Amino acid sequence: MEIKKNEEYVVDIIDNGMEGEGIAKINDFVIFISGAIKGEKIKILIVKVLKTHAYGKIVKIIEKSPYRIEEDCTTYKRCGGCQLRHIDYEETLNIKQRNVQNLVNKVFKKGQIKVHKTIGMGNPYHYRNKAQYPVAINKEGKVQIGVFAQRSHEIIQMQKCFIQNEIAEKIAFAIYKFIKQKGIEPYNEKEQTGILRHIVIKVGMRTHEVMCILVVNNKKMPCESQLVDMLVKEYDVKTIIKNINDKNTNVILGNQNITLHGDGYIYDILGEYTFKISPISFYQVNPVQAEVLYNIAIEMANLTKEDILFDLYCGIGTIGIFASPYVKKVYGIEIVEQAIKDAKENAKINKIDNIEFYVGDVERVFSNLMEKKQVYPDVIIVDPPRKGLDKNTINNILAVQPKKVVYISCNPATMVRDMKLLEEKYEVKEIQPVDMFPFTSHVECCSVLYLKDSIQ
Ligand SMILES: C[S@@+](CC[C@H](N)C(=O)[O-])C[C@H]1O[C@@H](n2cnc3c(N)ncnc32)[C@H](O)[C@@H]1O
Repeated sequence: MEIKKNEEYVVDIIDNGMEGEGIAKINDFVIFISGAIKGEKIKILIVKVLKTHAYGKIVKIIEKSPYRIEEDCTTYKRCGGCQLRHIDYEETLNIKQRNVQNLVNKVFKKGQIKVHKTIGMGNPYHYRNKAQYPVAINKEGKVQIGVFAQRSHEIIQMQKCFIQNEIAEKIAFAIYKFIKQKGIEPYNEKEQTGILRHIVIKVGMRTHEVMCILVVNNKKMPCESQLVDMLVKEYDVKTIIKNINDKNTNVILGNQNITLHGDGYIYDILGEYTFKISPISFYQVNPVQAEVLYNIAIEMANLTKEDILFDLYCGIGTIGIFASPYVKKVYGIEIVEQAIKDAKENAKINKIDNIEFYVGDVERVFSNLMEKKQVYPDVIIVDPPRKGLDKNTINNILAVQPKKVVYISCNPATMVRDMKLLEEKYEVKEIQPVDMFPFTSHVECCSVLYLKDSIQ
């Protein structure tokens, strides 16, 4: 039977995909249906047909999943932030586990790698410590701040968000009111006019320290000192930074930071450690789960006091610092210079003296470090960005052959790809997903690759 656009069909949802979408098949032809849940029977309207698959939208839910819940968010359908708010939280953890297991089974022999149940949060609400609100004028000429609509640059006016921390939302709203009152012009992407582009707010969830970054197109901002006074007096903001971004780009932050108030950074506490956070350095967005993840990584690594540990893609040094009491020495590598400055400072603050940090691209610095210092890792922890490991790093690992590689990843697809590339020398037994981003389709994973020759 040929699937036709604008025709209605009744389908059974057989699974949920990597983006949370429901999956159905008509005569083996795959159809993706946003908002559908495994186990449901649904009347759908086909909206797009491609060669290998089609997209449908829900017309009527004929048999409802027991996991379907009332959506709590008024902008859920339009906002690109969450994909799973219509599903019971526990079930979202099962979906994430299944998705990672399916990925693994496509690449490795069935049963070779076991994916465990996703570790969820006790309270999966308001968990994010970083908020980024675009500012713009809408079609009606009104100032808006909020979130980008799914796959678009249209801004949905900010409403109550259930994953964002509440103080960030309050402060952003106060800035919104202020710029409207004072007539401060938002940036216009098309014309490249106006001033304020983004409001970025970072919060130390345990210290309650707040950093506010005003991303502007131009060094001059009207009523700047009044805005700073308001944020400090009324919201006790610890530091305020003006970030200059005059490029026509999707990247939120520009390269230049001007501190308008405070020291230009905040602190947060993870486990028993204090971390200094600057405007541009990476810091995990869900600190509660970051702690869970780091502890799992260290437990899975089964480190010893004899081990030399390389922490590749180390950010501000968090994982290396967590691991430092269990090993002889840690070497961290990270490409962002400011992050390495923060990492060195973090080692000092926490009185860690068996750790060294190096700035640069892992692709080159990993081998340089070994050649120059003649140090070789017994264990490596990698926590790369979404694109995963580069070829050089894969080859370096295969050449150096540390006995274990702990792979932490926010993108299971590239993690599984890299595991396959390392398969000639390394064996993976299990993967532990951690729910770092509740109610979104994203999942963090942690796994250990064991050097085959060293397995007894
Ligand atoms: C997912 S974050 C992990 C950071 C840290 N491990 C943590 O848990 O906070 C990835 C980090 O890799 C850094 N990075 C990206 N590409 C890199 C590269 N080619 N070489 C070194 N670091 C890189 C980013 O700046 C970022 O800090």
